Amino acid sequence: MVESNTAATQFERLFSPLQVGPMTVPNRICETTNTIGAAQMPGFIDDPFIAHHLAKAKGGTGWIGSETFLLNSPLPNEAADEFFPGTGAVRMPLYKLPGFVENLAKFHQAVRETGAVVVCQLTQLNFTLAASSEPIVEAYDWIPHQLDDGEIAFLIGTYADAAEEFMKAGVDGIEIHCAHETLPQTFLSPAMNKRSDAWGGSTRARTKFLREVLTAVKERVGDSLAIGIRVNGQETREGGYTLLELREMMQCIAETGTLDFVNVDVGHSWGGPSYVQPSYYDHAVYREAGKALKVDLENIPVLFSGRVNDPGIAEQLLKEGCCDLVGMTRAGIADPEFGNKAREGRLGEIRRCIGCNRCIGNSIQSDTPTLFKKPVCSVNPEVGNELFFASTCKPAQQRRRFVVAGGGAAGCEAARVAAKRGHEVILVERGPKLGGQLNLAAAAPGRDAYDDFVIFQENQLALYDVDVRLETELDADELLALAPDAIACATGSVPRRPETPGIDGPHVVQGWDVLAGSADFGERVAVVSQEDAFETPNVADYLAERGCRVEIFHKWMSIGAQIDRYSVGPVMSRLVDNDVRIHPGLRLAAVAGGALDFISAFGGRKQRFEGFDTVVLVYGSVPDTGLYNTLKSRNSTSRLFLVGSAWVPRPLAEATQHGARVGMEI
Ligand SMILES: Cc1cc2nc3c(=O)[nH]c(=O)nc-3n(C[C@H](O)[C@H](O)[C@H](O)COP(=O)(O)O)c2cc1C
Ligand code: SF4
Repeated sequence: MVESNTAATQFERLFSPLQVGPMTVPNRICETTNTIGAAQMPGFIDDPFIAHHLAKAKGGTGWIGSETFLLNSPLPNEAADEFFPGTGAVRMPLYKLPGFVENLAKFHQAVRETGAVVVCQLTQLNFTLAASSEPIVEAYDWIPHQLDDGEIAFLIGTYADAAEEFMKAGVDGIEIHCAHETLPQTFLSPAMNKRSDAWGGSTRARTKFLREVLTAVKERVGDSLAIGIRVNGQETREGGYTLLELREMMQCIAETGTLDFVNVDVGHSWGGPSYVQPSYYDHAVYREAGKALKVDLENIPVLFSGRVNDPGIAEQLLKEGCCDLVGMTRAGIADPEFGNKAREGRLGEIRRCIGCNRCIGNSIQSDTPTLFKKPVCSVNPEVGNELFFASTCKPAQQRRRFVVAGGGAAGCEAARVAAKRGHEVILVERGPKLGGQLNLAAAAPGRDAYDDFVIFQENQLALYDVDVRLETELDADELLALAPDAIACATGSVPRRPETPGIDGPHVVQGWDVLAGSADFGERVAVVSQEDAFETPNVADYLAERGCRVEIFHKWMSIGAQIDRYSVGPVMSRLVDNDVRIHPGLRLAAVAGGALDFISAFGGRKQRFEGFDTVVLVYGSVPDTGLYNTLKSRNSTSRLFLVGSAWVPRPLAEATQHGARVGMEI
């Protein structure tokens, strides 16, 4: 385990305070705004909302950006249909509802007691209104209504009105959201702003909307709180602005004399590139944007974010002059206490964000009902359950012996939580290493960050004295001979093998075995997929990187339907760059040597594809319940749990949560 007693000097800059306008930020760690949906009622500031964001303030984050606040749109009453979900349009902003200011003040007060500051983001996110009738989100090609002067004046007023209410709640700062395809970005962007009136045309004219918003806000709130903007450092769309042009625009915006800070990141909300960079991106890959603005804006603090999940990287960014404040948003979701752990030199205890993007995918997914949807994190089971854990996860009243069979995500988490609560825990794992399926995920190109979660668990199990026995497989009798008070069967799952004619040939292998490095494969490979998340593209990517010519045959319209839009860019671009061919809508009917017979998923037409050396199956997995069933038949007095994929194969977050809940049950 990494230990350091020189943390204070190691992270000298990270833990130094900074004056930003009228607010003093106690350190440089920032939770930039993340609308994870922590409130029980979406958009409200209630106890679950406060618990989620306050945990980060208590854990050492100095700047709390919490969640975005949508402002009302100047849509005509008769166009009621424009308010349907997904457009971002709001008729009644939440800050105008009774009790909002009081609740925000309560949240602010709680955060201030930790020493941290609250900066609230004001957002006009409306895909039906824009500077011009040009597509806003390239991937959707939604053509908006071009705003007229009256509507523009209304919009400017919404920022000033909202700022006044937030000032009443006492917040320390407000941030005007101008990135991520929000409305101000449609004015700044030469790709989206095609106007020839005062609001468009020249580089300077495109900043007029934002300059007027900032001036109106400043007139209303004066010096009572810090005012800043969040801006995209460069557009990566045809005709979009470059970093150089942004720098020019920033000079015009700074002339207003209203800016106390600038928050810069890079990317788009459709993921090409993504501003919520998944594990495929290097840490802080767009740091040059921060550095350039810091040089240009001299006395205006610059906040930069983009896959910084480690205090060492954050310190380096500060040292190299890339920014004054570091966004570490998912770092704080994965481990709200990482700031305190870094300051105290407990680096080995930090649970690092693995860049899987389940948190944001979950928060924006439109096919899931948003009402009562809880936030989620793959590695931190407390996310969305903060109040429940605070009231339930207590030291054990009576120390018990708990045996866990299986060291994957669920087994490790069950062992970790039980041991942390004071139980005696033995974990047996048949493989040479903890991690289970995490090790397969980590083997895929761009996904090695999944190893970080395994390392975290290894450190935690050592810290809490769990007796970890690797390369050990115990049968039911041997487990019961350990005299456990409770047993968790976290035996995982095994790859599904369909009963398709010809499937038993030696050249038909499982995707898991490919990722594990235990399958042989030839040069021309067919990946047959009945899976909708990362596994299919990861297996294809792994093979293509090793020189194979890969074709994917997928059961439905497109692969990766469950991959969030912020991650899909690098996943798909890797396949495109490696010439991986994708055949949608095909179900495997038979394997005849190197030939594959398929039936269309949409109508039954038959098709044959020939000449493959290897067929790789990605068909999901089925629970391995053998041990559990045997133990159940023994009628032992030990409490018995079936946990993780052995109960039902699900994404990592659910396995982690299931393990934690079992660890709390003992
Ligand atoms: C769940 C989630 C919701 C987000 N919502 C917003 C938002 O409402 N406004 C915003 O400006 N950024 C939003 N972001 C982006 C973050 O502020 C941040 O830029 C991004 O997570 C990358 O920084 P990180 O690598 O430190 O996490 C969101 C991110 C996440 C993970
Ligand atoms: S869900 Fe994944 S990306 Fe989001 S904070 Fe957790 S580990 Fe990081």
